[in-house]
Amino acid sequence: MPDGSGVNELYPSLNNLDQNSFNLSEMPCIIRNGLGNELSLIQMSGLEHLSEVEINNIVNYVLNDMNNLSLEFTIQQTEETLKDCSE
Ligand code: HEM
Repeated sequence: MPDGSGVNELYPSLNNLDQNSFNLSEMPCIIRNGLGNELSLIQMSGLEHLSEVEINNIVNYVLNDMNNLSLEFTIQQTEETLKDCSE
């Protein structure tokens, strides 16, 4: 939702992330490739049209603005992470 909150089991909230939610460094790959499998209620499709810079900006927005986690992803980190995304 606009504030990052989710919808019950359907869409996970992104505004109550903490360091242990999931491996935050995976977020660039989740955005690029999506998430979930046939067991998921709803699968997240990848947003392949987004550039590295756009993904980097979204990650920093979600971490800092939505979750006040003072974590900064540099564009280099995002580019490196996206290179290793497991398809
Ligand atoms: C740039 C925008 C987006 C970001 C940053 C984002 C980020 C994420 C992250 C970090 C997760 C994992 C959450 C967790 O494990 O706690 C996730 C899961 C999910 N997202 Fe997204 N997402 C985006 C767009 C979307 C869109 C457009 C949809 C659907 C219309 C969507 C649907 C889902 C679903 C259904 C899951 C759960 C998948 C599963 O666990 O099986 N997401 N998203």
